[in-house]
Amino acid sequence: MSIQISPTPEQAARDFAEYFAGWAKGRPRINLALSGGSTPKALFLHWAAHYRESIGWENIHFFWGDERCVPPDHEESNFRMANECLLKPLGIPEHRIFRIRGEGEPVAEARRYAQVLQQNLPSRRGLPAFDMILLGMGEDGHTASIFPHQMSLLTEAAPCALAIHPDTGQPRITLTGPVLNNASDVVFLVTGAAKAGIVKEIIEGQEHSLRYPAAHVAPKEGKLLWFLDEAAF
Ligand code: 6PG
Repeated sequence: MSIQISPTPEQAARDFAEYFAGWAKGRPRINLALSGGSTPKALFLHWAAHYRESIGWENIHFFWGDERCVPPDHEESNFRMANECLLKPLGIPEHRIFRIRGEGEPVAEARRYAQVLQQNLPSRRGLPAFDMILLGMGEDGHTASIFPHQMSLLTEAAPCALAIHPDTGQPRITLTGPVLNNASDVVFLVTGAAKAGIVKEIIEGQEHSLRYPAAHVAPKEGKLLWFLDEAAF
């Protein structure tokens, strides 16, 4: 596990963007899963504004770690935010964008997306293997859309599953724990004081941290990296 602590959320995004540029160099094909929520917006805008030439975007295939079950133009859509802040500005062609169809029937879409992963990613230990998965973490320690009330999704055999937001009841599609831990690299980009207690518990491996889904993300053969701002640690 490696931890990078930056003074501000914006600097954490910039520091990860710079790390990613070096990590991506020379890789002929990158299967990258993007996180959702609000944190990655600064990263996407920074990538689009300052890394157009210095990252080989033509080698990158975009997937998502989770999606809200809403249409792709809905204000809560993770795809919509990434599309507006990163994919459209960089002119990423549709054939390298593999969005989760939030508008679909959730159980059928979880099955469909699992097939998309199996058809487009290499397999490792019988599961789709991402080169990198970018994750956020909620104030309850959830990651992707694996929430504390649905810990079984951490060991779910299917690569994708239907999840339910505990407060709003919103249905979501999420990658499950075994796929997250099958990636070569997993990066948490987490900022803000509201998450500091949980981040510290998880990173320090404190006894009760396993009640948080994010504490169960530990790539079997890959690297786990945390990019934080000072407030989050
Ligand atoms: C989502 C995300 C989720 C997110 C955390 C943090 O769809 O909401 O994938 O796991 O990363 O909830 O969200 P913020 O970045 O908005 O704090």
